[in-house]
Parts: sequence; structure tokens; C-alpha cells
Amino acid sequence: MTQIEEAKQFILSKTDNLPDIGLILGSGLGVLADDIQNPVTIPYTDIPGFPSSTVAGHKGQLVIGELEGTRVVAMQGRFHFYEGYSMDLVTFPVRVMKAAGVSTLVVTNAAGGINESFEAGDLMIIDDHINQFGTNPLIGKNDDALGVRFPDMSQAYAPELKQLAETTASEIGVALKKGVYVGNTGPSYETPAEVRMLRTLGGDAVGMSTVPEVIAAVHGGMKVLGISCISNMAAGILDQPLTHDEVMETTERVKQDFLQLVTAVVKKL
Ligand code: 6GU
Repeated sequence: MTQIEEAKQFILSKTDNLPDIGLILGSGLGVLADDIQNPVTIPYTDIPGFPSSTVAGHKGQLVIGELEGTRVVAMQGRFHFYEGYSMDLVTFPVRVMKAAGVSTLVVTNAAGGINESFEAGDLMIIDDHINQFGTNPLIGKNDDALGVRFPDMSQAYAPELKQLAETTASEIGVALKKGVYVGNTGPSYETPAEVRMLRTLGGDAVGMSTVPEVIAAVHGGMKVLGISCISNMAAGILDQPLTHDEVMETTERVKQDFLQLVTAVVKKL
């Protein structure tokens, strides 16, 4: 049995079936999982093949249940490349969710604003991404059972899901930006010169996650929606240093809007 299959069977032994909607909740955004009704929670440490999550603000468990009546499986906390996990491990949960029946993945993160018209607290639909990890989770022998050797990334973030999120946001009165997410390894934040470079390259926000998971999800044929919470402006834009505390404070401040948006979008999926 493959590792993916083993993890899938373990999860399915705790709950009869997995919903077809998966959520990956980023730094400070894991609170969404607390709104899930009739939850079955499975700590990552119990799941075969899962590493244990370490970063502050990440709980490290799968939560399966209903978000206002819609069944979802949420990852409360994710695995970051900067924690030292391999790309295989960072994307492993996506592979497992896909194997267990998840077909739509909502990926969230906290990110620094590069676009100078953004401000801390904005929510941004990820229109597209730029992979600056310097590697790719699909490097190595391709497993044809998972996906093709050379996946098309021209619609990595499903146009109909972006549209749905925008329509839903305006219906519920939540302001929404749209832009390009740059994925960097971290864990150091960017220098002001790097931020200027990323802006020139077409980036609107920068973070340390999401890109690997989205590449794996697209490889596996999943539909992806990405939402960034702009937790702070990137270096050199405002005259203040960047701290993880600010990231957590901002996500705390905007979590109502974030919760409302994700819940309303999920309801329509
Ligand atoms: Cl400014 N940079 C990166 N790489 N990740 C972040 C961030 C900045 N703010 C929140 N996450």
C-alpha cells in the first residue's frame, strides 16, 4: 500500500466519507475550523505519513464536519517548506485529500502586501501565483496515477471559483482585492530590494506557502480557490519592521470577514 493510501484509509476509519471540499487554513486563520459543526478532529501526529506542524498559530489537525450545512475537511495548520519539510511532505496532505475524494481545494494564507494600494487587513483573491521556491514539488519521477508529467498551469486558480468568490464577497459586503501571490521559502521576510523586485515581476502579495500545495492540487486535477489575508505590508513600504505578531494581530482583526467570506463561498460550491 502507498503512503497516500495508508493515510487515506486511516482518515476514512475515523469518518465514513470525506467531503469533496477541502480547506487549508493559514497562519491565524485556523479559527475557521472552530466554526465547523459536528467535528471529527484528527491530530496530524496520528495520521500515518503526516509530520507534526510546529509554527505558532498552527494547531496541526484535520477537522471534518459541516460549515453552515456544507461538509468540509479543513487542515488547521499546514506544513511549510521553511520548517525543513521536503516538498513531498508539504504536499502530502493535498495528495491524501485528493485520494480521499476532495475535488475542490480552498487554500488560504497570511501574506505581505506588495501592491501599494493594499493595506493590512485586506483580503485578496489569488488570481495567479509566481513560484519563487527555487524548486517544484513535482520534481522527480512522475507518478502517472496522480497526474501528468507536465501539468498545465494556465488556469491553476479556477476562473469560475474566482468569479464565485467575487460575486459572493459583493453580496455579503466584504471588500476583496485580487492579485498575484508570490511564494518564497522564508523564513526570513524579504528585504526592501526584494520587495521592489517582486513588484516589478508582477507580484501583489508575498508569503511562504500555498504555491507547492496548489501545484500538487493542479497536478491531481483539483479545482483551486486561493484567498490571502494581507496581514502586513511587505518590507520597505511602511516605515516599520515586520513581525510575526503583526501577522497574528491582523488575522485576528479580520477573521470575521474572512470567516464570513469562506463560509458563504463554501455554501455555494
Ligand atoms: Cl512580508 N513576507 C512573506 N514571505 N510572508 C509573509 C509576509 C511577508 N507577511 C506575512 N507572511
